[in-house]
Amino acid sequence: MAWLISGRRTGVRVVSVERDAHRAEQVAQLFTDVPDVEILHGDWTLIAEHAPFDLLIVDGGGNGKQGPAANPEQLLHPAGTIVIDDFTPLKEWPPLHAGQPDQARLHWLEHPALLATEVRLAPDLSTIVATRRPS
Ligand SMILES: C[S@@+](CC[C@H](N)C(=O)[O-])C[C@H]1O[C@@H](n2cnc3c(N)ncnc32)[C@H](O)[C@@H]1O
Repeated sequence: MAWLISGRRTGVRVVSVERDAHRAEQVAQLFTDVPDVEILHGDWTLIAEHAPFDLLIVDGGGNGKQGPAANPEQLLHPAGTIVIDDFTPLKEWPPLHAGQPDQARLHWLEHPALLATEVRLAPDLSTIVATRRPS
């Protein structure tokens, strides 16, 4: 999150949700004097109260791997971008995970409201970047 804060233009709002109480408190203290930064303690779903966003980084809950996926139509402005990280690189189509259809990856790559692609960051790591289709 620090890179987002340091790289943003003046006035751009940053909201982050962290479920670990100690971590959330430490991060909130770290950014206490930094304007337009809000650190929320709780489940990722709290982010909906602050939506819609131009950019949403899903790096805790909401990635659809375990539990419900974030809803881009609720959480993003049209043409807003969502990033879902921590995938192994795509090796076949349709994609498999542990020998089964990779439902999380398919959810994002075939989401009707998104234009999505996968970006390989390392031999064993990839991320999905998707833009909400402008209506
Ligand atoms: C990869 S770290 C990213 C931390 C931080 N957002 C950053 O950008 O540096 C993932 C964080 O998501 C938190 N997390 C995992 N599941 C979560 C959930 N369901 N709701 C809120 N936070 C969650 C973890 O506690 C962990 O601190």
